[in-house]
Amino acid sequence: MRRLMVTGGAGFIGSNFVRYMLEKYPEYFILVYDKLTYAGRLENLEDVAAKFAGRYAFVKGDICDAAAVEEAARTYAIDTIVNFAAETHVDRSLMEPGSFIQTDVYGTFVLLETAKRLGLERYHQISTDEVYGQVLTGRSKESDPLAPRSPYSASKASGDLMTLAYWESWQVPVTLTRGSNNIGPYQYPEKVVPLFTINALDDQPLPVYGDGLQMRDYQYVLDHCEGIDVVLHRGALGEIYNVGTGSEMPNLEMTQIVLETLGKPASLIQHVEDRAGHDRRYALDVSKLRALGWESRHTCAEAIEKTVRWYAENAWWWRPIKSGELYQAYYAQQYGKRLSEKAERR
Ligand code: NAD
Ligand code: DAU
Repeated sequence: MRRLMVTGGAGFIGSNFVRYMLEKYPEYFILVYDKLTYAGRLENLEDVAAKFAGRYAFVKGDICDAAAVEEAARTYAIDTIVNFAAETHVDRSLMEPGSFIQTDVYGTFVLLETAKRLGLERYHQISTDEVYGQVLTGRSKESDPLAPRSPYSASKASGDLMTLAYWESWQVPVTLTRGSNNIGPYQYPEKVVPLFTINALDDQPLPVYGDGLQMRDYQYVLDHCEGIDVVLHRGALGEIYNVGTGSEMPNLEMTQIVLETLGKPASLIQHVEDRAGHDRRYALDVSKLRALGWESRHTCAEAIEKTVRWYAENAWWWRPIKSGELYQAYYAQQYGKRLSEKAERR
């Protein structure tokens, strides 16, 4: 495993993973293969391209395009695929589920076929705690049944099942990780922590869905990257590993940490209409990965504070996104009615 194709490597977690791996393993080469959707941004890799020239390459392409995937893998003599490419935002999956099925299910199948055909050393699937569905009590173990409840999580669960099917049917050497909510640098500000942070920085309302008592395990993105690295090198083939802090907090507590870190008032909080089918709680049992020697380095609170500070110091990255037409149109569609109804009632 020395020549990795990181699909979706221009997105949030993928770009952090590429930087982390190139720094840690001086003998590795990484090809980022990415379609550059709204969430994929070359700015996320600008420093990587400059620092690791010769050990890093980028190809723009769709994981659903079998010929292009195979050509990229052959051209760069790839031995391992790590698949981050996906449509990832639950709210968008409620607006247009089709692209989630296309990329997260069909695209995963295309990559697995490539791994099988080329006899790759490893195919690693990046998955999510959302495939277990909401967990009102206890913690999800890797052997638990899947019970996804949104078009996003249903498409990710299908990708997981297809990955396991390639192991069972043809012994394609797969591993899977299921991560909790990642936060950190370069996360597109549709996800709650960056969205709340940049709104608070601009003294705009923070739209909390429903009562804000939903529980999430906010983990720092580099802890997740380290977990993936451990599974790639020490994980057993055909196995799934949960990655998270192993604890969780209500969204309102996360919101308070965002506001306190920035010294902004609680009056910015606005409870708005809830997300349809909103999962109440995710909670992971991470003992299987811990048994391989991995430990999360940040608590949820530390991860939130560190993330908020990064956004406060890196307006160069998010300001052009926030002021762009695409983002504004999405924001109006997702929040326009929610926030104006709230304002009318006051
Ligand atoms: P992201 O939305 O920031 O990035 C996704 C990347 O995939 C983008 O660069 C995009 O351009 C690319 N992409 C999308 N469709 C593609 C296609 N058809 N072909 C090629 N590239 C395509 O996502 P993220 O938050 O970094 O998530 C990465 C992976 O981790 C996803 O598989 C997601 O399901 C999983 N995950 C995310 C979290 C989280 O909290 N963000 C937690 C657990 C698991
Ligand atoms: O759990 C892992 C998952 O975490 C990943 O698989 C997904 O790709 C990633 O998007 C994330 O999903 P969530 O739906 O949990 O993340 P999001 O940031 O969208 O929302 C986190 C919580 O905050 C959730 O309970 C919904 C709530 N929320 C979100 C937004 C965007 C709000 O209250 N207001 C908001 O405006």
